[in-house]
Amino acid sequence: MMTNWLGLPPLASTHGGQIDNLLGWIHIFMLILFVGWGGFFLYTLIRFRKSRHPVANYAGVASPASKYSEIAVAVIEAILLVGFAIPIWAARVDRLPPESEALVVQVTAEQFAWNVRYAGPDGKFGRTDITLIDSQTNPLGIDPADPASKDDVTTLNQLYLPANKQIIVKLRSKDVIHSFGVPEFRVKQDAIPGYTIPVYFTADVTTDEMRTRTGNAEFQYEIACAQLCGLGHYRMRGFVTVQSAADFQTWMDQKVKEQLEAASNPFR
Ligand code: CUA
Repeated sequence: MMTNWLGLPPLASTHGGQIDNLLGWIHIFMLILFVGWGGFFLYTLIRFRKSRHPVANYAGVASPASKYSEIAVAVIEAILLVGFAIPIWAARVDRLPPESEALVVQVTAEQFAWNVRYAGPDGKFGRTDITLIDSQTNPLGIDPADPASKDDVTTLNQLYLPANKQIIVKLRSKDVIHSFGVPEFRVKQDAIPGYTIPVYFTADVTTDEMRTRTGNAEFQYEIACAQLCGLGHYRMRGFVTVQSAADFQTWMDQKVKEQLEAASNPFR
């Protein structure tokens, strides 16, 4: 279905087309309902006007038309729910790809920033401990004594991703409820303290391609916090850079190198 008329942000994920389709059908059905109910309302205003019915009619409507239209509305809503919404939910929320086939990124929200962590070449996230948290130097409380933490790469408000690879974001929060929303990926998920919530998607348009496509040389994918989380909510945004697999690997190798150097520096 063509969904340009919805005015959505440009699409940049493999599953997003399904979401746009659902949005398109919902708008069409709701437009039909709006016109139908609006027309019915106008009809009753005129048909049952005071000059024609000076006395109330206690028998009411005798025609079965309204019953049939109610049934039709219920059927359409059931189709939207069973035919579209439930299958999308089942595929998007229940069927995570295996972690071995995906890039796993930990994203931890806090007032008012996004802490991003990659496991590094060993594929293991180092241990974290709440007592090690330092808001300036160690916002995630990563334990430097854990060998698995030595190559963990962290960034603040910068999420780098390879295009055309399954991404699993493990979403967490340090304080209140935030929401991880990237409109172009058609992804939005609340981050809830005490939970680690997986979100998965495959971005299929690099930032450079999107700049060409939109004609906007400054284009950036943004993580917008989509849940009112405090006074700084408005400025809680991060940036997503989608790169080719090779460019992403170059970036990652550089970050791992910096991290290993920092980890071996006794004066840090
Ligand atoms: Cu975090 Cu709004």
